[in-house]
Amino acid sequence: MLLELQNSTTQKVTYSPKEGHPIRLWIKREDLLHPYISGNKYRKLRYNLEEARALGKKTLLTFGGAYSNHIAATAAAGDEFGFKTIGVIRGDELGQDVEKVLKENPTLGFAAKHGMQFKFVDRKSYREKHTPQFIAALKKEFGSFYLVPEGGTNELAVRGCEEILTENDTKFNYICCAIGTGGTISGIINSSKPSQQVLGFPALKGDFLADEIKRYSKSSKSWKLITDYHFGGFAKINADLVHFINDFKTQTGIQLDPIYTGKMLFGILDLYKEGYFTKSDKLCVIHSGGLQGIDGMNVRLIRKNLPTIKYNNA
Ligand SMILES: Cc1ncc(COP(=O)(O)O)c(C=O)c1O
Repeated sequence: MLLELQNSTTQKVTYSPKEGHPIRLWIKREDLLHPYISGNKYRKLRYNLEEARALGKKTLLTFGGAYSNHIAATAAAGDEFGFKTIGVIRGDELGQDVEKVLKENPTLGFAAKHGMQFKFVDRKSYREKHTPQFIAALKKEFGSFYLVPEGGTNELAVRGCEEILTENDTKFNYICCAIGTGGTISGIINSSKPSQQVLGFPALKGDFLADEIKRYSKSSKSWKLITDYHFGGFAKINADLVHFINDFKTQTGIQLDPIYTGKMLFGILDLYKEGYFTKSDKLCVIHSGGLQGIDGMNVRLIRKNLPTIKYNNA
């Protein structure tokens, strides 16, 4: 396999909130699987890369926003394994001065450095990205390619995410993960045990996720969406979240990202405060990566005169 099967380590941490007792939980460090194909991206791309290679495809084409973790990881994977990569990026305004954008946007700058070619499209066209007409136009423009959906989620990605949990994790009664498109939680649900409940924390508003998860996951399993911790929507954050991410790093040494894992852990600790969990509950919290997005978020936080996330990725 291009990306080998790996088991991530599960780290026990204790966090002391401002009020209340210290909280003990376990963080599954998927973020450490690979420096660039990090977290759930490693799992989602593993079987997709294999399929692309088996089909004899030389190019990977995928979609994403300007700060997408998936865009960065696909560019890195293409570079590492010899695929050309094309990123169809939401926002035609970004195409007006590409050189400036690549300098100012760490995600796109990184992807370009790893050889990704971009096509910037307006938001209306971007919404039509899955239509046969849109795909046919891309084929005409770029020739043959292996298509990886937005966020990397498809059946093969879910299969890869089924490898996140292992037999060592059966001692936990809750498994917690962040949700964007629903692929990661679907894989986790499929490999969870009857004694476990999977809690998913959507990073965005909207009620379409449950259907998406039902489509990919086994119906006999126990799971639930906790929908109160999206902080106003996808990529929206506030000073409280920034302070929490920085404090969590100081206390535990673990860096969280502002879009997925930071919101999820903020939510978990809030639920503890409300008495949702008991002292005997054992929580395994999936760290699904996303740290590449911090620099881009800090640029936006500085523009808004908000506190920034302390992060040193050197
Ligand atoms: C770091 C990180 N965590 C969690 C998720 C959510 O994964 P999914 O889109 O499979 O729900 C994403 C998005 O893919 C992500 O980039």
